[in-house]
Amino acid sequence: MKKTLIITGGAGFIGSHVVRLFVNKYPNYHIINLDALTYAGNLENLKDIEDAANYTFVKADITDPEGIKTVFEQYKPDGVIHLAAESHVDRSITDPNAFIKTNVMGTANLLNTVKELWKGDFEGKRFYHVSTDEVYGSLGAEGFFLETTPYDPQSPYSASKAASDHFVRAYGNTYGLPFVLTNCSNNYGPNHFPEKLIPLFINNIKNNKPLPVYGDGKYTRDWLYVIDHARAIDIVFHKGKNGETYNIGGFNEWQNIELVKLLIKEMDKQLGRPEGTSEKLITYIKDRPGHDRRYAIDATKIKNELGWEPSVTFEQGLSQTIQWYMDNEEWLSEVTSGNYQKYYEKQYAS
Ligand code: NAD
Ligand code: TYD
Repeated sequence: MKKTLIITGGAGFIGSHVVRLFVNKYPNYHIINLDALTYAGNLENLKDIEDAANYTFVKADITDPEGIKTVFEQYKPDGVIHLAAESHVDRSITDPNAFIKTNVMGTANLLNTVKELWKGDFEGKRFYHVSTDEVYGSLGAEGFFLETTPYDPQSPYSASKAASDHFVRAYGNTYGLPFVLTNCSNNYGPNHFPEKLIPLFINNIKNNKPLPVYGDGKYTRDWLYVIDHARAIDIVFHKGKNGETYNIGGFNEWQNIELVKLLIKEMDKQLGRPEGTSEKLITYIKDRPGHDRRYAIDATKIKNELGWEPSVTFEQGLSQTIQWYMDNEEWLSEVTSGNYQKYYEKQYAS
């Protein structure tokens, strides 16, 4: 079946894996990657598919109502997979307004745009909102986040994502907009921007730089390989029920400090350093304000109802991730030097 899909934030970490999966798997779909190319957007992530016949990149900002209306009227999408967001908790602490603008206003703007475009004729239409487990707040030592867990966001990032989730559900309830929504745990994998824990620490271990561990290092996250998240998005987009929420997680909890020690072990092996050499780089620093203690997803619903589960173990995923960063030194140096932002000008100059 032919379809036109707009994927927002497709030049980012998760978005680029989703775009690649859809472009390769669905040659009959026209995939429009709509991205503003903020600091987190990098078209070099998609070099391998940029010339595909069913792929189009459009530079546009989801917070710009007129610009978004023009793109949507031009391409008339049947579906939207919305990933564009400000995504880094630490940045949300220093600049919350950027998060309110993009994550809340930008999402509302997309909802208004599809509401107008589809004009109540929702046959074959779907708005997929990609969200985070951080909307549920922080867990103690026990328990898991379920789809029914009450929202309790603690950072400006998670509050802005929670607000956007509420708007999506409200448009479903009020206007009948067909939507699906997923809340996913921490992702890791290739193309992850090196401001987040795993890629930052891979880069720092490689360059013998300090590894800044916040607080006591005993904060816990549930890690999922990004390609498994992209697979889940494909399954939910095609098989999820309208109006439903699905939690996505890795069944894979790690305390930060244990994860850092595992990374060090793997990296030292890769770099030919005696085991444990890089442990001296661990540097405990001042904690993140309002730091959530523990996240853990119960992903039973998506497993039982849609048959999704992670395809790789953490050991496999982490080793593939380290290998990718070792093999893609140029990507990393372009990102850390800021040069990647020139790629758009070079590629799309004419
Ligand atoms: P990212 O920061 O790597 O990428 C975000 C992308 O959105 C970038 O390409 C950026 O250019 C684009 N963007 C930002 N503002 C925009 C705007 N105003 N208009 C158009 N494009 C804009 O983020 P990510 O880690 O790939 O996360 C993608 C989505 O998944 C986000 O909605 C995030 O909340 C959600 N999520 C992320 C994780 C995770 O672990 N990274 C986990 C669960 C959910
Ligand atoms: P991060 O990758 O920023 O994801 P999130 O905050 O969305 O979970 O951080 C993962 C964990 O690692 C979190 O507990 C904060 C911690 N962390 C550090 O200890 N040091 C760092 O430099 C960073 C970036 C994160």
